[in-house]
Amino acid sequence: MSYPFQINSLAQYHADYKAAAENPDAFWANVADNFCWRKKWDKVLGWNFTEPKIEWFAGAKLNITENCLDRHLEKLGDKPAIIWEPNNVDEPARTLTYKELHAQIIQFAQVLKNNNVNRGDRVCIYMGMIPELTIAVLACARIGAIHSVIFGGFSAQSIADRMQDAKASCIITCDGAFRGNKIIDLKAVVDDALLQENVVQKVIVFARTKTPVIMMDGRDVWWDDEMNKISITDFTVAEEMDAEDPLFILYTSGSTGKPKGVVHTCAGYMIWTTYTFVNMFNYQQGDVHFCTADIGWITGHSYIIYGPLAAGATSVMFEGIPTFPDVGRFWDIIDKHQVNILYTAPTALRSLMSFGNEPLQGKNLSSLKTLGTVGEPINEEAWHWYDDNIGKNKCPIVDTWWQTETGGCLITNLAGITPAKPSWATLPMPGVQPIIVDEKGEETSPNPSEGGALVTSGNLCIKAPWPGMLRTTWGDHERCRVNYFATYPNLYFTGDGALKDAEGNYRITGRVDDVLNISGHRIGTAEVENAINMHNGVIESAVVGYPHDIKGQGIYAFVIYNGEQMDDNILRQNIAATISKAIGAIAKPDKIQFVSGLPKTRSGKIMRRILRKIAEGETENLGDITTLLDPDVVAEIRDGKV
Ligand code: WTA
Repeated sequence: MSYPFQINSLAQYHADYKAAAENPDAFWANVADNFCWRKKWDKVLGWNFTEPKIEWFAGAKLNITENCLDRHLEKLGDKPAIIWEPNNVDEPARTLTYKELHAQIIQFAQVLKNNNVNRGDRVCIYMGMIPELTIAVLACARIGAIHSVIFGGFSAQSIADRMQDAKASCIITCDGAFRGNKIIDLKAVVDDALLQENVVQKVIVFARTKTPVIMMDGRDVWWDDEMNKISITDFTVAEEMDAEDPLFILYTSGSTGKPKGVVHTCAGYMIWTTYTFVNMFNYQQGDVHFCTADIGWITGHSYIIYGPLAAGATSVMFEGIPTFPDVGRFWDIIDKHQVNILYTAPTALRSLMSFGNEPLQGKNLSSLKTLGTVGEPINEEAWHWYDDNIGKNKCPIVDTWWQTETGGCLITNLAGITPAKPSWATLPMPGVQPIIVDEKGEETSPNPSEGGALVTSGNLCIKAPWPGMLRTTWGDHERCRVNYFATYPNLYFTGDGALKDAEGNYRITGRVDDVLNISGHRIGTAEVENAINMHNGVIESAVVGYPHDIKGQGIYAFVIYNGEQMDDNILRQNIAATISKAIGAIAKPDKIQFVSGLPKTRSGKIMRRILRKIAEGETENLGDITTLLDPDVVAEIRDGKV
């Protein structure tokens, strides 16, 4: 069965693209008619990119969980909504049907109410990849509380920063999380975060690892105890939300300062994630979808939880890591759960590819129909390995480009419908109007590329709103304006560089700002520098990215240190520990080089261009260095040791 808004042919893609561009109101009203509303909208779209103010389906009333659950119960009630694969292979997998998931969510929604969480309140969620994480997210949405999921790899300090910024009154966590052969003590990290001044009144703890934890009387309660207190007669009805009420906040790194809280709203985000989920993967009812992302990132929000469930799909959720108990784990999961769609990151592919094809022996991957990648550019070698060995040249690969801010995918080929081009994200979704501009904001013109074909290159912007775009950054609308809408008037600036070929295909070349993409995880250079500078004796530091075979990009830190003398390697470890404490282990540098100075202009600006070249191993063409305050420092850095 296909969906009424499903794109079934190349001709239809072009027709829908045109229709959405020419008359967005009519196009999206048509799509929105397939959802369940308490009240329909007064106006489909109102917008300006100067404040910015973006409103989709103003006046409409809905609850997103009724769209993800209730409306499916009659026909799909016994269909698996979530198939959960635990970290440990000897623990049985769990399946939650739509009926079961629905029952758990309304029950936990009541738990939240009993713990004084109400509409509009912010709830942080810091859990491992277990079904209760999905239940917690949807229970918040059920009562209109705004969830903010924090990736389990972030430190106590990062949690404290996020709780403080969101003014969260409740945090939901686990005693611990299983990750490969490790147990991560999540509750202990939360306790640490709560030592700082904060507004959290309740901590709800799910017992997953049965590791001992300290429970503070009056503040900390067990998930199971709270669930057991509730009788079926207690259940409250789903909150009636306005289309533009915030659904969640997700913190993400930018080029300056602390991570910002990207805000998505109920109706637009729902429509966008469902529409893109169905169309990019060419999802057919009955397909089993496996997205390997963590729900702590946007990919997990949109394509493990909201998009698939709103489409009535079966979504696989995996607790562990691709290399445990061995590097064949993904392939075992595909075989075991008869996965039809695999959606993963290029980093995971490059890492699995490095083990050769032996781990694939004896794994039956014949259920696969569609493959996808997300999070970073995919190199051609990894693309072909994916195509040859996983898809056996029979499965379309979709290279989906998007961002935390875009809510769902903006540029991708559509599986089996529009053509793929290795390492190109290809064509925009209907409703998305990209434009490539130069530094001044002028649309760039095509130039002959190395191979002779005409390509346009520059900074990628979007001209008009799509339903799933961010509306603001939490508590600081001006930051949203400055970050995304002030670089070029009347354009949303993505922060990415791109190429466009003569057929209109886009290739994303990477960030043009000071944001790094390490293994598909976004990390700001300024954040890492601030963390390094907290280390005693560090005078100053500069962080840049450099090409890394597996991770895509690695972190390279140049550090001026004037503290207590010690062995360089011990000092490197100490600095890495400082970063782990401030941000999390994901932000640890791959390389730290001690230097006596940094290349600065006379006005004191660090010339990162030079540092980037040195980090890339380029020693010859460092460009013009005559404007530097102290040009000699460049030779010292170039010849220095890491
Ligand atoms: C990068 C992840 C190339 C890009 C969904 C973007 C990609 C950043 C692709 C957003 C892709 C994402 N090809 N680059 N298919 N997908 N990116 O917010 O630089 O974690 O700006 O969202 O990842 O990362 P974020």
